[in-house]
Amino acid sequence: MTTSTILSIDNSSNTYANKINNIVTKLTMTRPDDWHLHLRDGAVLPTTVRHSVQRFARAIIMPNLKSPIVNTDQAQAYQKRILQALPTHYNFKPLMTLYLTDQLTTTELQKAVASGIIYAVKLYPSGVTTNSASGIKSIESIYPIFETLQRLDVPLSIHAEVSDPQIDIFDREKVFLEDYLGKIIKSFPELRIIIEHITTSQAVDFVKEASTQVAATITIQHLLYNRNAMLLGGIRPHLYCLPILKRAHHQQALLTAAISGNPKFFLGTDSAPHAQSTKECSCGCAGCYTAHAAIELYAEVFEQAGALDKLEAFAAFYGADFYRLPHNQERLQLVKAAWTVPDAYSFGANQVIPLRAGEKVTWKLDC
Ligand code: DOR
Ligand code: ZN
Repeated sequence: MTTSTILSIDNSSNTYANKINNIVTKLTMTRPDDWHLHLRDGAVLPTTVRHSVQRFARAIIMPNLKSPIVNTDQAQAYQKRILQALPTHYNFKPLMTLYLTDQLTTTELQKAVASGIIYAVKLYPSGVTTNSASGIKSIESIYPIFETLQRLDVPLSIHAEVSDPQIDIFDREKVFLEDYLGKIIKSFPELRIIIEHITTSQAVDFVKEASTQVAATITIQHLLYNRNAMLLGGIRPHLYCLPILKRAHHQQALLTAAISGNPKFFLGTDSAPHAQSTKECSCGCAGCYTAHAAIELYAEVFEQAGALDKLEAFAAFYGADFYRLPHNQERLQLVKAAWTVPDAYSFGANQVIPLRAGEKVTWKLDC
């Protein structure tokens, strides 16, 4: 017999699920946040901002624009452009970040913190990924900045890969943890550090063993896929991102961490749109566009793992706690109703190919 009930699926959470024949058909949870997001700039903002604000209340906005956000004035101006692209009836708070360069001074850092709009400083090792050429060439040389971040209690967000061309692309995260991160943590034990978009079992273990000052974001593509999805039977450029998808056992380790209820692991999509022509070419850009279906895809992964009751804390509580921000009061509702992702979305004068383009997603926003 078909029954419909509304129940809290976890006493410690605020999540409510409608169940029919014991299958969850509707999920009501605290509105989540995205702790790692690329919105880009200019004519593409209406698309990227709309997708994120439909799902998330706040997002940490990555600063790696073509001309990176390296000071307070640029961050303020960028935040304004994002807010101008906000559709009506949506509340959304862009949490701005600064791009760490060798030129960043303690004075500028103090100014940025005093402005109240900067929530993290992002470290890109130079050459490691998209628009990282202005990143850091020598980690040791910016220890004074780490010292200031620690003193001012500003989180350090890290793209934790080495860019040394001698190091195999599949080992770059592991080597960064071994050669740099352990030392940084030892030298600055009070500094809050977010290891962004972790992709390996080594990173999971590293975070688990580190102090409570160290946390990690996990993307949807690294939970959904391993490198076979990108390379078997032909190259799929829209699954190419950095850090690159790894082996299946790493994917499994990330999934175990995400559904573990360990507050050190939380949602960060790393949604990173690129125009179709710059992905589908002989030297394609790194980045997966996932903002259009982000929370729906996380719900799919958590449901398949039998852990829907763990989704709310992963998506709406742990990141906020780490950044010492209040939990959102608004709610988000998802229904179990398959929909087909469009083949493309408009992206300024171009188009962007979203994850799952032309394929089904099982959860849908109920707006
Ligand atoms: O795949 C990625 N794309 N990884 C990054 O670290 C940057 C991002 C981008 O900005 O396109
Ligand atoms: Zn990113």
